Amino acid sequence: MKNKVVLVTGGAKRIGRSIALALAEQGAQVALHYGTSEAEARALGFPVFQANLESVEEIRAMVDRVADHFGRLDGLVNNAARFTRFDPLTIEEKDWDFIHSVNLKATFFCCQAAAKVMLAGDGGHIVNISSLGAILPWQEHAHYCASKAGVVMLTRALAKAWAPKIAVNTVAPGVIPFDKTDDRIERLIARTPARRAGAGEEIAEAVLNFLRGSRFTTGQLIAVDGGLSL
Ligand SMILES: NC(=O)c1ccc[n+]([C@@H]2O[C@H](COP(=O)([O-])OP(=O)(O)OC[C@H]3O[C@@H](n4cnc5c(N)ncnc54)[C@H](OP(=O)(O)O)[C@@H]3O)[C@@H](O)[C@H]2O)c1
Repeated sequence: MKNKVVLVTGGAKRIGRSIALALAEQGAQVALHYGTSEAEARALGFPVFQANLESVEEIRAMVDRVADHFGRLDGLVNNAARFTRFDPLTIEEKDWDFIHSVNLKATFFCCQAAAKVMLAGDGGHIVNISSLGAILPWQEHAHYCASKAGVVMLTRALAKAWAPKIAVNTVAPGVIPFDKTDDRIERLIARTPARRAGAGEEIAEAVLNFLRGSRFTTGQLIAVDGGLSL
C-alpha cells in the first residue's frame, strides 16, 4: 500500500477508524472523510474531507478535493452508513430515504466520482462495506437489509463495468460492537460459530486484503462474521 491514496468514508470512528489506521500502518496515504465527527476525524491526523453524503453535489466536490490534494486516487472504501430499526408495517417514506440515501445512493455516487479519477489515472480498487444483513433477512431491518443487498449487487455490476482498471469488492461485517451490547446482540453473538463478536481490526484486515490484492479478484463478497451467515 506504500504511498497509495485511499479515501475512507465515515472514517472518524468505529470500523472506519480501524480501516484508516490499518491503511496508514501499511504505508497508504489516507484521505479521511467525515460527516459530523470533526474532532474525532482531526484527532487521527490525516487530511480530512467533510461532506454530507446525502448530497451528490457534496460527494463530487469531496472527491475533487481529494484528487486535487493528493494528485491521484488509488482506493475508495465506502464505509459510511446508517442503521435504524422499524417494523416494516410502520416505516414511512422519510425513514426509507434516510437509510437508502446514504447506504445505497451515496455508495453509488462515491463509486462513480472515484472511478472517474481512477479511470483517468492508473485504475484502482473500491471496497464497499455491506453487511451480514445483505445475506440474512432481519425482519425489523428490512429497509436496511435491502440497502445493503443493493450494495452487493452494485459491487458486482460496477466490477463488470469498470474491469480491468478498477476492482470492486465488498466486505460484509457480522456483529462488530463498539458500545455496551444488549440482549439482542448477545443472542446473535451466542449463535456465532466463532462464539464471539468481531473487531474493527478484523474488518480492516479483509478490506486491506482486497485493496492490495490483484484486480483479477473483482465483484466478490467476503463475510467477516465469525461464521454467523453459515
Ligand atoms: N458495526 C457493526 O456491527 C456492523 C455490522 C454490519 C455492517 N456494518 C457496516 O460497517 C460500516 C461501518 O459500521 P459502523 O458501525 O462503524 O458505522 P457507523 O458508526 O454507524 O457509521 C459510520 C459513519 O458513517 C458516517 N455517516 C452516516 N451518515 C452520513 C452522512 N449523511 N454523511 C456523511 N457521513 C455519514 C458517520 O460519520 P460522522 O460520524 O462523521 O457523521 C458515521 O461515523 C457501515 O457500512 C455498516 O453498515 C457494521
